[in-house]
Amino acid sequence: MKYSLLLAASAALALAVPQGPSKRASSFAWFGVSESGAEFGNQNIPGVLGTDYIWPDTSTIQTLRNAGMNIFRVPFLMERLVPNKLTSSPDATYLQGLKSTVEFITSTGAYALVDPHNFGRYYGNIINSTSDFAAFWTTVATQFASNDKVIFDTNNEFNTEDQTLVLNLNQAAINAIRAAGATSQYIFVEGNSWSGAWTWTTVNTNLVSLTDPQNKIVYEMHQYLDSDGSGTSDTCVSSTIGQERVQAATEWLQSNGKLGFLGEFAGGANSLCQSAVTGMLSYMQENSDVWLGASWWAAGPWWSTYIFSMEPPSGTAYTYYLNILSAYFPSSSGGSTTTSTSTATHTTTTTTTTTSTKSTATATSTATASHWAQCGGIGWTGATTCASPYTCQAQNAYYSQCL
Ligand SMILES: *[C@@H]1O[C@H](CO)[C@@H](O)[C@H](O)[C@H]1NC(C)=O
Repeated sequence: MKYSLLLAASAALALAVPQGPSKRASSFAWFGVSESGAEFGNQNIPGVLGTDYIWPDTSTIQTLRNAGMNIFRVPFLMERLVPNKLTSSPDATYLQGLKSTVEFITSTGAYALVDPHNFGRYYGNIINSTSDFAAFWTTVATQFASNDKVIFDTNNEFNTEDQTLVLNLNQAAINAIRAAGATSQYIFVEGNSWSGAWTWTTVNTNLVSLTDPQNKIVYEMHQYLDSDGSGTSDTCVSSTIGQERVQAATEWLQSNGKLGFLGEFAGGANSLCQSAVTGMLSYMQENSDVWLGASWWAAGPWWSTYIFSMEPPSGTAYTYYLNILSAYFPSSSGGSTTTSTSTATHTTTTTTTTTSTKSTATATSTATASHWAQCGGIGWTGATTCASPYTCQAQNAYYSQCL
């Protein structure tokens, strides 16, 4: 989201899904949430773990994973990972926190989107050295080179900086990641002007020339639905504003043969925003030849009463939106769109992904739910009995889990 300082105060993957007679499964490869916390307290660098910042809670990640999410974006601060200079070696403690979080996520079969949440800045200054930025990415990619469920997000929301610099920084990141031996992973590139989908075609068209020897670039855009698009209000402009704001970007992706991911979006817990959000997601599913998925902003242990909190068990968006969004989850068999758009148009399907997604879908239809698995809640049609010795415990109206 655009005004991160306020926060301080506090393809690829086609699913082999059977086509139902009237409904079809979600055509997204990924759906999830940003797991906010390690980037908190950006006025206190390096800051103190537990006071200024926090790593996400793995048990609530597991809850969202069990609900069907399969991508978790992990924001962190570059200054905490590589203190003093972009070319520094990593701080061992902060690196361990990042690695633990990422490895937990990927151990569940989900994807971890590694997100230096820095707005193209380092200690407040625009990052202007492509070689320093490359050094930072060499450091990060080296750590995760062998984990193909990691995805690299070049930087959160470049803004108010030179457009050619944004292009060159992204290309430097791609080159460094590949040179570090991380050759299997997707790379999500972000654009200038906070990577907004609504301004993409007037701002970021030069990013069309980014190249990747592995051909695994995904354009990560962000879109909020309040009047200034900043994601700071729970009032949406109209019921159709979501689709309207991503339409031009969708056409840009299509006409240029590129893939996109909506890396941040949200709406208030009210019916107008609900229509705007579902209208946008349904439109994206109709155009899933280019849209691979979306991630909500945001979950995380310190959001408290934040208007968009997806943190279980009582976040405002968790209680209002989880069930609504679940129709778009990759494991969903009841996507809300009824279009006949092909679900198999992405070209670089990987066997491992297809397999893990299938096993997730299978798990929800077995007669007995396993430890941590969902076992009840509004709209739940899967197993309601838990494997011994676990019992089905309600987390909220939408979600019961074997614990
Ligand atoms: C690049 O950034 C550094 C650090 O903020 C700054 O000192 C320098 O003046 C910048 N150089 C250019 C050419 O903008």
